[in-house]
Amino acid sequence: VHLSDAAYDVIVAPGVLTRAGEEIARALRLAGVAALRKLPVVVDARLPSAILDRLLASMPTATPIVARLPGGEENKTLARVGEVLDVVLSGGIDRRTPLVALGGGITGDLGGFVAAAALRGIPLVQVPTSLLAMVDSSVGGKVGVNHGRFKNMVGAFKHPAVVLIDPTLLNTLPDNELRSGLAECVKHAVIRDARLFEDTAARLDGIFARDTAVLSDLIARSVAIKARVVQADPYEAGERMHLNFGHTFAHAIETVSRHAIAHGPAVALGMVAACVAAEQLGMIDSATRARVTDLLARIGLPTRATGLPTDAVMAAMAHDKKASDGRVKLVLPMRIGAVTVRDDVPAELIRGAVESIR
Ligand SMILES: NC(=O)c1ccc[n+]([C@@H]2O[C@H](COP(=O)([O-])OP(=O)(O)OC[C@H]3O[C@@H](n4cnc5c(N)ncnc54)[C@H](O)[C@@H]3O)[C@@H](O)[C@H]2O)c1
Ligand SMILES: [Zn+2]
Repeated sequence: VHLSDAAYDVIVAPGVLTRAGEEIARALRLAGVAALRKLPVVVDARLPSAILDRLLASMPTATPIVARLPGGEENKTLARVGEVLDVVLSGGIDRRTPLVALGGGITGDLGGFVAAAALRGIPLVQVPTSLLAMVDSSVGGKVGVNHGRFKNMVGAFKHPAVVLIDPTLLNTLPDNELRSGLAECVKHAVIRDARLFEDTAARLDGIFARDTAVLSDLIARSVAIKARVVQADPYEAGERMHLNFGHTFAHAIETVSRHAIAHGPAVALGMVAACVAAEQLGMIDSATRARVTDLLARIGLPTRATGLPTDAVMAAMAHDKKASDGRVKLVLPMRIGAVTVRDDVPAELIRGAVESIR
């Protein structure tokens, strides 16, 4: 990822966790792994312990400073940031000490925010362990926590020094979490890459069997799309909004369901609603809408949510932080592989799209 003020590698390689020390030293331009003296690690306490063990074994000379984060969105808070800072700062770090965030998106977002804040910023290494974190949250530099009932409302832009993606870590990821990550993979394919869409559809068996070659290829291509979009618009002034395909609907659905519908399933529903809206506007044909819906259904993601209250979803969409000057901005497909941003979609048409997924 090349930015005007920073550049970093995203390495997708089976087994990269076992040489994490080397890769981190290289990214920080240190004279070898032995130069890593202290290593703060923010880790999801629910991960299989072998994952942390393998990371630490790759840098035997470093003294680990381990902050264990209780899992769950309700722990992505400033209070937990304070606790992690207590651990990290009392371990005796300096401005060049890298912090590793080892876990899913929750750990990456919170750990990344700690790295942005500690000593006004120390190097961050993202080691994502969920598919969602691998293809989405670990790349792009957005870090932060929830505040009260506001999601992701306190944070920073903190670009990592390196992102290490080891697809073999997905062997222990529950299928449900794999599906959530796949929702974001489908999103990347629909916004930029029709071939990735076809290949994902053709390789679902390999994906769920945790075929390392299949996963490595799809992750690398998905993350490359995110990287290209972020590179073109690192601070979210324009094009980066394409990554919100399905998300304006999804955030409203998550809120209205009080998170009974999790992010991945909500994104799937949101993408279906966006396709319905695009079809109504004459931007895509019904066959294209059906292809997106069919793939999501085959993955095992929902394409309908019975009992979803339309009025509440409409109200929540109007409150979305991306609805500047009262107009709801929607990212809508023009075909599989290309999207555009529309802020002129009539409210009645949006309502119809919400009705269609009930
Ligand atoms: N910063 C961004 O740009 C960005 C983008 C998208 C999402 N996010 C954030 O990401 C978060 C969601 O991330 P998530 O879906 O990874 O959630 P998560 O971090 O809760 O991980 C999901 C679950 O999988 C488990 N898990 C993770 N890796 C595992 C492994 N290898 N083996 C076994 N279990 C494993 C975790 O313990 C957890 O129970 C949300 O808070 C969201 O706001 C941030
Ligand atoms: Zn998302």
